[in-house]
Amino acid sequence: MSRVPPRISAFINQKGGVGKTTSTVNIGAAIASLGRKVLLIDLDPQSHLSLHLGVDGASVGQTVYDLMLDPDTRTEDCIVKVRPNLDILPSTVDLAAAEMELASTPDRNNILKHRFQEVCDRYEFVLLDCPPSLGLLTLNGLCLAGEVVVPMQAHFLAMQGLSKLLETVKLVSQGLNPSLKVGGVILCMHETQSTHSKEVVAELDQFFEESAGSGLPWEHAKVMRPAIRRNIKLAEAPSFGQTIFDYAEWCPGAIDYRTLAERFVRDWDRAHGVDAGAVRAAEVAASTSVSAAANERATEAVPSASRSPTPAKAASPTQVAPAPQAVADPKPATARASKSERVAKAAVDASAPIPIESPRTAAHELSSATLSVEPKHVRRSV
Ligand SMILES: Nc1ncnc2c1ncn2[C@@H]1O[C@H](COP(=O)(O)OP(=O)(O)OP(=O)(O)O)[C@@H](O)[C@H]1O
Ligand SMILES: [Mg+2]
Repeated sequence: MSRVPPRISAFINQKGGVGKTTSTVNIGAAIASLGRKVLLIDLDPQSHLSLHLGVDGASVGQTVYDLMLDPDTRTEDCIVKVRPNLDILPSTVDLAAAEMELASTPDRNNILKHRFQEVCDRYEFVLLDCPPSLGLLTLNGLCLAGEVVVPMQAHFLAMQGLSKLLETVKLVSQGLNPSLKVGGVILCMHETQSTHSKEVVAELDQFFEESAGSGLPWEHAKVMRPAIRRNIKLAEAPSFGQTIFDYAEWCPGAIDYRTLAERFVRDWDRAHGVDAGAVRAAEVAASTSVSAAANERATEAVPSASRSPTPAKAASPTQVAPAPQAVADPKPATARASKSERVAKAAVDASAPIPIESPRTAAHELSSATLSVEPKHVRRSV
């Protein structure tokens, strides 16, 4: 298989609490479980990405801060392996000082890009969790990335934020990073039944459709499907240092992120002419080792007290294996097939077109929305 460049995606939204970290962790974990090599980069001094994966930046040694501030630090020395195929470049609160400390450094927006070259060949997908601001750290993310992915909620005010973000991407693409594009929007904490959400999604769809062929960085962008439904399991998982697939692998949040990640991978492979059959064979082969490693992990102790506020809860099998989801989850947690069989099946399914209409999920709700809304905020201000 010819070498395809890594898909490097910066998950950015200057608005806080919209689902950037949750999306980065769970899409990254889902891609890794398909047997693809993934690096997650925590560019946020809040370190939520690191904590979500049970990594305490303060105790692992070197982090993004060291990488950006100390030219003698080797990139690979900052990387922590957290799951099979899933590595993380963690951060700590120290990173907050980097903006000031680098203020007079020449070419400071490209530091991360230069440092990443040392490990570029090792990864197929690189996801960057950016802070909720457009400072030096986010600019470093934008200079390294090939695309911006915008996690957001389907609210009208969020669309104004989106239009500002698109303007920023345009500016960066005109100077610092001419190859930067917008991959699309991920709808997080989505209320599938709300009329307001449906109107916003219809407006977003229309906006991106009308941008096709415009030559703007978002001309190929889209609303990624499925939308990620609001699901409390996604909010619970970080307190155990677990991905949603470790914590409740068949809950609605896991199903949505898994499906979205499979399409994310498939789109990239198709765009680069990757042989789906070869990829599928590799995925199936990888599923065996993923399964073995997952079983091993399940027998390990839960994360340390600092990472797991309620470790006793994590130890309970009923917490880890949630009750079956009546509508969205066709395979209850009381697994009928072995984990390796399920992972292999997911890998095979990922290479076939996924019908939008079935099962009835958020994707169906969105694709069937027929509301016609006069485009407002985004089109006017972009
Ligand atoms: N689909 C969802 N359903 C329920 N809760 C969710 C969902 N997605 C995210 N959350 C929760 O919402 C909160 C904010 O999510 P997250 O931390 O991913 O946002 P963020 O954009 O990274 O925030 P920040 O800007 O502070 O970095 C978290 O508590 C998270 O667990
Ligand atoms: Mg975050």
